[in-house]
Amino acid sequence: MTSQTLREARKYEEASERLIRKEERPDFHLTPRTGWMNDPNGFSYYKGQYHMFYQYYPYESKWGPMHWGHAVSSDLLHWEYLPCALAPDEAYDRDGCFSGSAVVLPDGRHLLMYTGVLKEHQERDIYKEVQTQCIAVGDGVDYEKYEQNPVLDEKNIPEGSSRFDFRDPKMWKKADGTYACVVGNRPADGSGQILLYNSADGWNWEFKSVLASNLNRFGKMWECPDLFELDGKWVLITSPQDMRPEGFEYHNGNGTLCLIGDYQEETGTFEEMHDQSVDYGIDFYAPQTVLAPDGRRIMIGWMQNWDACSMRSPEEPWFGQMSLPRELSLRNGRLYQTPVRELDALRCGKVEYTDVAVSGEVKLDGIRGRRVDMELTVRPADGQELYQKFSIRFAQDDTYYTSLSFRPRESILKVDRKFSGSRRAIIHQRRSRINTSNEELKLRIILDRFSVEVFVNDGEQVMSATMYTRQEADEISFLADGAANIDVVKYDIR
Ligand code: FRU
Repeated sequence: MTSQTLREARKYEEASERLIRKEERPDFHLTPRTGWMNDPNGFSYYKGQYHMFYQYYPYESKWGPMHWGHAVSSDLLHWEYLPCALAPDEAYDRDGCFSGSAVVLPDGRHLLMYTGVLKEHQERDIYKEVQTQCIAVGDGVDYEKYEQNPVLDEKNIPEGSSRFDFRDPKMWKKADGTYACVVGNRPADGSGQILLYNSADGWNWEFKSVLASNLNRFGKMWECPDLFELDGKWVLITSPQDMRPEGFEYHNGNGTLCLIGDYQEETGTFEEMHDQSVDYGIDFYAPQTVLAPDGRRIMIGWMQNWDACSMRSPEEPWFGQMSLPRELSLRNGRLYQTPVRELDALRCGKVEYTDVAVSGEVKLDGIRGRRVDMELTVRPADGQELYQKFSIRFAQDDTYYTSLSFRPRESILKVDRKFSGSRRAIIHQRRSRINTSNEELKLRIILDRFSVEVFVNDGEQVMSATMYTRQEADEISFLADGAANIDVVKYDIR
């Protein structure tokens, strides 16, 4: 039975979607059907298709009472909208259906677990959000909330832990057919912890252990956890709030954290061995992964920075984009990410240049566009002094450009969207220290109208940023302060 609130959202989104022209959206990155989008939710493979749900407020292009938007795809790049899946319409989720995940039940139904939010009056005009975990079951289009919701609440958290910061369940099916999930929570020390729960059937859940504790090391509250096995190790990804920079590894504000280690299922413990950022650009948060039928672990994040949401005017018909789906692997104790191989099928119009000398500014015939997949290798010119700086400018015209610039002496790569048309005093640059042990800089740069994603050294690092520069700005140029040589292979994406 659909509620009035859900029916209204479905009616509204259907009418409003028609007002948005195809060219006003990215081509192969998912945006909200209308209005606002944040975190990816319920990323799963069900009935022969990938399902992506997302934090959604259809009525305005700003955050509001959370619904779950819904889209499906068979290649992770062409998405088709389905009707809004969840609306805040029950006593336990009246103030929002926050982030969560999905699994497939043995009877073929699709099970969603999400965080129900309910404001509780404290004193005077102060309210706090009580957060509980709730489930809904459906057929891939319509979902029914469980009559015994919530399935996890304050009775299921360790003593002293917060019932106001208890959210974002990520479930998975274990080898023996039972289920587990991880949930973000705030313990008495005020920072973050990840709680682990088990369930025999997906409906009845019980507390297992505190899987991992922040102990005030990486930011404060840990949001949107995900735990999975990868190349013989276990990876715990989470998105900490209120981070402080640590060298070039972590930046201020909401960030992403990847912990690589070992996980003991019997004891429910995670032993950390290595930590790193997931994305080193400006816009990336709250990623979620899916295990594809062919065994690939694929991750999509919200390609946005919470502190930079004013980048677009709320008058625009949509706000928020998902990142490219990325295949994950571990190499030398690091998380590697590469664009899903499905993207290769969309490449066309190949233009190739080998060993082009760059000194000053160079533009190359056939190299322009805003929907582009470009591989670039930069080398110091033979027998000449090492160049000071190499840059590539894109989304460029007489007024605007966004750039990537590399200083080989410091091994620093910087993304800069200061000249992208933004009118807000928000972050427009980010620097990252990259590995240049082989003297070469190797980049794969993917543009899709309103974003750039840079895969450095075959995916050893990724930098993502959004840019809402007018689409006519489609020139690309290469600049060197000193002498560099480049190879370029560029495709259009159609
Ligand atoms: C992360 C987050 C989640 C929460 C959701 C609310 O971006 O704050 O913790 O579930 O967004 O929209």
